[in-house]
Amino acid sequence: MKKILGLVSASIMALALFASCCNSDGIIRTEVPARPAGQESMLQFAAPAIDTVHIGFIGLGARGTGAVERYCFIDGVKVVALCDILQENTEKNAEILKNHNMPEAQQYYGDDQVWKQVCERDDIDLIYIATNWQAHAEIAKYAMECGKHVAIEVPAALTLDEIWDLINTSERTRKHCMQLENCVYDFFELTTLNMAQQGLFGEILHGEGAYIHNLTDYWDGYWNDWRLTYNRDHRGDVYPTHGIGPVCQAMDIHRGDKMNVLVSMDTKSVCGREYYEQHRNNGQPAPEFKNGDHTMTMISTEKGKTIMIQHDVVTPRPYNRLYQLTGTKGFANKYPIEGYMIDIETASKHQETAASEGVSAQIGLDELFAHDFVPEDVKNALMEQYKHPIQKELEDIARKVGGHGGMDFIMDYRLIYCLRNGLPLDMDVYDLAEWCCVSELSAISIENGNAPVEVPDFTRGEWNKVNGYKHAFKDGAK
Ligand SMILES: NC(=O)c1ccc[n+]([C@@H]2O[C@H](COP(=O)([O-])OP(=O)(O)OC[C@H]3O[C@@H](n4cnc5c(N)ncnc54)[C@H](O)[C@@H]3O)[C@@H](O)[C@H]2O)c1
Repeated sequence: MKKILGLVSASIMALALFASCCNSDGIIRTEVPARPAGQESMLQFAAPAIDTVHIGFIGLGARGTGAVERYCFIDGVKVVALCDILQENTEKNAEILKNHNMPEAQQYYGDDQVWKQVCERDDIDLIYIATNWQAHAEIAKYAMECGKHVAIEVPAALTLDEIWDLINTSERTRKHCMQLENCVYDFFELTTLNMAQQGLFGEILHGEGAYIHNLTDYWDGYWNDWRLTYNRDHRGDVYPTHGIGPVCQAMDIHRGDKMNVLVSMDTKSVCGREYYEQHRNNGQPAPEFKNGDHTMTMISTEKGKTIMIQHDVVTPRPYNRLYQLTGTKGFANKYPIEGYMIDIETASKHQETAASEGVSAQIGLDELFAHDFVPEDVKNALMEQYKHPIQKELEDIARKVGGHGGMDFIMDYRLIYCLRNGLPLDMDVYDLAEWCCVSELSAISIENGNAPVEVPDFTRGEWNKVNGYKHAFKDGAK
């Protein structure tokens, strides 16, 4: 007890900054604001169906331009506005529309407030935001207040204040506020989610995810150096959503379980700091580069599960989003090799199926069981049997249109499909909140000696109302 109090008093300054408080259990808690009167939950929210979704794009750098290109392949949409500070970017995207024989869209450019004119138009249903992180929440809030649904690139919000603001605005305006987390639509993740939902792994006990991607070749490409600057100025896992999103869906977070407490640690900054000094500071020592080279966050859930998330964008490591699920009856792993472990009986059945289809087994299962992944033929048979219905429907066109191998197209397609059919979206504003909150909460933990920090219940008491994560389909079809 004394130890915990000692730890907390040593960090009292940092605590004050976050307007948080610490109980006798040593857990730092941040404020959960009461839901304002007259405001309702957005759980399972469905808006009236929209026949043709009129879209305004704000932020047309690398990511926004890719999105405009993908929307040329989606039925039932009309791009009516293209907005970026830079005219060259709106022009480039106007050219893309033209090349795809799409109607011309009005261009907005010239300053960092011109996006307001897009939000204020009365012929737009959806504002698609792909600016740098720092502008996301402000634009999204204003757009919802102007009566638009919003889809926001990752991370949609950077601080708890921004997160609560987006939740309150979405609840008040009854407008969708979806984060564009694409990794939940990657083929392996979709198939594995389907397996998990059908009980192949038993009860999921532990999940891992990460964003491990050496950005050395990319730092110079960001407008105004926004990304390196943000990393320079912030500790914690500043890009958590790719890692945590797929794990939270498989673990039914706020649909039967909730994250309770997190603890974060980081390494000192070596590679990040050196890169900054060499490329931004004339080789001179940088006064401060805050983001540690490697950051780890462990999270416990109400139902006794654990999650581990990692962030590393500077060390010389191969790309890795980890994505692992450990269940009572099986295991799934995406990086560096895709593989599954399941109980021997189920695996045998799949090996028989594979053999009957002329695919011979490479190795006896009994030799492998409990020591290795199931053999390739069993894995392939499993992945075919459990292929997610969304993947079955879309994989051909998704591969053709592309966007990280196709997952970006599926994300965009599903957003429009749900809007056009008046369905709840695949990701709600509480997913956005839970996946983004790791940024500020991990910083609080680290700056307070790796102290445990409570993960707020962003649903404000409704985390157990929905029974399991599900995608919505028209006529209830799967
Ligand atoms: N999901 C993914 O796989 C993925 C991949 C890459 C980037 N992203 C995300 O996409 C977003 C954009 O990243 P990027 O790589 O395209 O960055 P970028 O620097 O290439 O583009 C940002 C664009 O936003 C514009 N912009 C900035 N402020 C603006 C304002 N006030 N009004 C209008 N335009 C404004 C800039 O002019 C620039 O063109 C980020 O949130 C990033 O994390 C996601």
